[in-house]
Amino acid sequence: MRLLMCLPLYYGIEYEINPWMSRSRQCQPELAKEQWRGLYRLVQDQLDVEVVLVEPRQGLPDMVFTANAGLVWQNNFIASNFRYEVRQGEKPHFENWFQVRGYEIRRIPEESIFEGEGDLLMCGDLFFAGYHIRTDILSHQKTAEIVQREILSLELTNEWFYHLDTCFCPLGNDRALFYPGAFDSYALKVLEDRIPTLIPVQEGEAKRFACNAIVVGNNVVMNDGCPAVRSRLEELGYSVFETPLSEFIKAGGSAKCLVLKIPDKEGPRA
Ligand code: ARG
Repeated sequence: MRLLMCLPLYYGIEYEINPWMSRSRQCQPELAKEQWRGLYRLVQDQLDVEVVLVEPRQGLPDMVFTANAGLVWQNNFIASNFRYEVRQGEKPHFENWFQVRGYEIRRIPEESIFEGEGDLLMCGDLFFAGYHIRTDILSHQKTAEIVQREILSLELTNEWFYHLDTCFCPLGNDRALFYPGAFDSYALKVLEDRIPTLIPVQEGEAKRFACNAIVVGNNVVMNDGCPAVRSRLEELGYSVFETPLSEFIKAGGSAKCLVLKIPDKEGPRA
């Protein structure tokens, strides 16, 4: 697996599309770059995962959140249809990145909002997808047709946790971190039915983006200041790496939002 990242050269809080964002609470550009580099190094050196880069574009400050580019599935890149116009300009750049590398670009109908891996995560063999705040439930069906798997839809009800990857973090095959206060009651039932070990995160650490962690094997990378989640994970045998990401939380994102998984392609083109 490789991870796609985007340097925060043009990153800033230029609009407000989730409750974390306020133009009056700007990020510090130099600190943002330093924090991004810290994450980049952790991923390459501690997780031993290759990072590939997409060129940042002026006027697209949220392009750093590559998790929202789409979903990479075998040789397919399923491109996102962003809900807000301010992010829609990212789409051709991400599509182009995958196209020139030989991926088949798959599009779902424009009216179906889909925000990529931000709202679509695998836990073991199961796909879980968030809807209501960003991604539309209709897009789940279109995506399911492409990946040819069932997708379990989870309704998100809390604006602070507007993407699934802000409140749900699969840990291998049968475990996940989750923040119960982000889901409707039926979604909670689906999670309980399908995932043998669900680890609840308290609100304080959920709001420090504890669920927005990058998990590679037994290693977990997350924002700093989540001691309860950290010790629970360590008890379960994980190695936890904390790295400060305050400047990205000002835009409503943390470690996991800053990377997009590119699994190894299957088949002859691998
Ligand atoms: N400001 C970005 C937005 O609201 C943050 C995206 C965070 N990404 C994520 N996968 N949760 O769209």
